[in-house]
Amino acid sequence: MAQYLVTGAAGFIGSAVAQLLLEQGHQVIGVDNFSEAYAPELKAWRVQRLQAHPRFRFVRLDIAKRDEVAALFREMVRPAVEAILNLAAWAGVRRSVENPWIYYETNVTGTLNLLEMARSYRVPKFVLASTSSLYGKHNPMPYREDANTDRPLSPYAASKKAAEALCYTYHYLHDLDVTVLRYFTVYGPAGRPDMSIFRFIRWIAEGEPVRIYGDGTQKRDFTYVEDIARGTVAALRPLGYEVINLGNDRPVSVNRVIELIEGYLGRKARRVYEDAHPADVPATWADISKARRLLDWEPNVSIENGIKKTVEWYKENREWVHQLPLP
Ligand code: UGA
Repeated sequence: MAQYLVTGAAGFIGSAVAQLLLEQGHQVIGVDNFSEAYAPELKAWRVQRLQAHPRFRFVRLDIAKRDEVAALFREMVRPAVEAILNLAAWAGVRRSVENPWIYYETNVTGTLNLLEMARSYRVPKFVLASTSSLYGKHNPMPYREDANTDRPLSPYAASKKAAEALCYTYHYLHDLDVTVLRYFTVYGPAGRPDMSIFRFIRWIAEGEPVRIYGDGTQKRDFTYVEDIARGTVAALRPLGYEVINLGNDRPVSVNRVIELIEGYLGRKARRVYEDAHPADVPATWADISKARRLLDWEPNVSIENGIKKTVEWYKENREWVHQLPLP
């Protein structure tokens, strides 16, 4: 049994990773600041499930606040942690255009604060959640990890670029073992309400207009949250410094996703096409040969199955989920 620190433990991916670590018999300290990115009810729902576990401790704090992070390590982190999994972030692509500062504070300063703790407390492993949106629109697909990421299209992607760079510096200077995971549009039960699949399910289920940015032909390599959690835990092995894609390797269009949701809900979408968003990348597709090789990882859940499970979750939780504010 080892102890891990998971930041963003109330978040979509963070809570799934914490859950898996707990199921594997580990101890987890989960931190989260319950940022106003979206409905706190959803975060509370996720944390409540984790708290059912005696080996889970929750600490509310903001990783961007250096004194709070230092106090956590000084006062709470006993026994020492085997790894810091930094899954706390402001993560919406389009909203980052409106408030880039908050993205920078959490994603860059927050990462820096945690890297410093990893250095001072000699934490053996650091995992950073990064993004497929770093590949922009100028790279050949499928995206390989060594593609050029110098032209991010959103402040969010740029902030993750900076966080990745800091991770390398800490690896270089302090020999910290860091794995950067570039996640590809993660979806699933209790997902983020700013993201397409959550919104489309709710809008179709409730008979509301389904807002599509652009013509819906944009593609994403949508990846199911349980596959992502498994890949993240697999990345806890010592690897030096590596950047690894975790994607489904099966891109589908937004229009196709809507068709699948219509099928599982047995209702037609009222589609409203709006302008494409300039910060959106036109398509993503992960080359996952590195994840196969280094992590022995393979996605297991098809988009059909994943959407089916996500629709089922919505139906089971409809009573409270249908009235959450959408950011
Ligand atoms: C997602 C996550 O939000 C990021 O945190 C993550 O870093 C990124 O994936 C990634 O791959 O790394 P995004 O691809 O924008 O970003 O995911 P969605 O919000 O699910 O959007 C997918 C597509 O649906 C986009 O083209 C978007 O414009 C479109 N969309 C979204 C709509 O047409 N309508 C909506 O209401 C929401």
